[in-house]
Amino acid sequence: MDDKPIDKAIILKELDELHSLDYDYADGRILGSMCTQPHPFAKEIYYKFLDTNLGDPGLFKGTKLIENKVIDSIGELLSLDEAHGNIVTGGTEANIMAIRAARNHARKYKGIVDGEIIIPDSAHFSFKKAADMLNLKIVEAKLDDNYKIDVESLKQAISDKTVAIVAIAGTTELGLIDPIEEISEMAHENNIYFHVDAAFGGFSIPFLKDMGYDLPVFDFSLPGVCSITVDPHKMGLAPVPAGGIIFRKEEYLDVMAVDSPYLTVKTQSTIVGTRLGASSAATYAIMKYFGREGYSKMAAELMDNTLYFAENLKRIGYEIICEPELNIVAFNHPDMDAHTLAEKLEKLDWRVSVAKCPVAIRVVLMNHIKKHHLKELLEDLKEIF
Ligand SMILES: Cc1ncc(COP(=O)(O)O)c(C=O)c1O
Repeated sequence: MDDKPIDKAIILKELDELHSLDYDYADGRILGSMCTQPHPFAKEIYYKFLDTNLGDPGLFKGTKLIENKVIDSIGELLSLDEAHGNIVTGGTEANIMAIRAARNHARKYKGIVDGEIIIPDSAHFSFKKAADMLNLKIVEAKLDDNYKIDVESLKQAISDKTVAIVAIAGTTELGLIDPIEEISEMAHENNIYFHVDAAFGGFSIPFLKDMGYDLPVFDFSLPGVCSITVDPHKMGLAPVPAGGIIFRKEEYLDVMAVDSPYLTVKTQSTIVGTRLGASSAATYAIMKYFGREGYSKMAAELMDNTLYFAENLKRIGYEIICEPELNIVAFNHPDMDAHTLAEKLEKLDWRVSVAKCPVAIRVVLMNHIKKHHLKELLEDLKEIF
């Protein structure tokens, strides 16, 4: 730290210089991110609520009501009449909360101490963090030939130590939706906590269904589903950080509650103590502003771009890994490994991401990638081919 105060203009100059090193979504060159430019209205609201702290909700009663309203709206989107949960920092924190709820519930009601969680090979790495922090063992369920959970392998993985099963609605690498209905039945029959990670798909699957896309059921209409992660800071267009965790029953929050003696509430179930109310307010505002209609239109546009990109890749001769279900396309050159292709694209100033399972270039068709960017990218890919 400097000894003496420094003039604002000097600080700003330094920060602007550093900020200019960041890539800008608006350039349309960030191809692998699941985040995008937040909507300006959401940013405006976020700024207004920067002073609020939902860790002490008795002091911020209005903002707490806003969080409750957002949780209700997301719950409704996911076919749940009475939702419980929180707006948190992102999919990672939401998943950790879900696994913590499952572990504590199994410990309290089933006496399981050395618990296990079953996750697919395609699960986001946040579950590894959750297992590490919560002292749980990970048991991996295999994927089938279509890169979705192999339900038979999942069945084999169940033991008397299983505290949770996890499935994904919109996998990080390929955007695929697991057979959630089948898994929900299995979890329900075996009385095992079932968490759906829809961090990516939660803000698009319901809207794509509204637009006539034939996508599988993934939400609370399935009786086995206990919790769902949904991230407003991905396709919801809320500013980072905004993740959502929705629980079917309040008891899942209750089993995580710890005493919070000096605060305006007696207990706290969230992982984070002091936490931003701005994320809830911005999410509330943007959900109202778009409405179901606005999000549906946007989801359909993203899918249009996705299908356009996939079709044209095939036309040039690239091989796509699977037909896209959501707005992700993963592909390979028939004779060049993905890392070499990624390097060539990086040299042409595209910010690409390489999927691990299977190894492939992965493009997430977020709002900042427009048709004209895709045309440029396809031209470059044609040159490389
Ligand atoms: C399916 C899924 N779950 C969880 C996460 C983690 O979300 P976050 O990075 O917001 O913590 C991601 C991030 O991409 C994801 O794709």
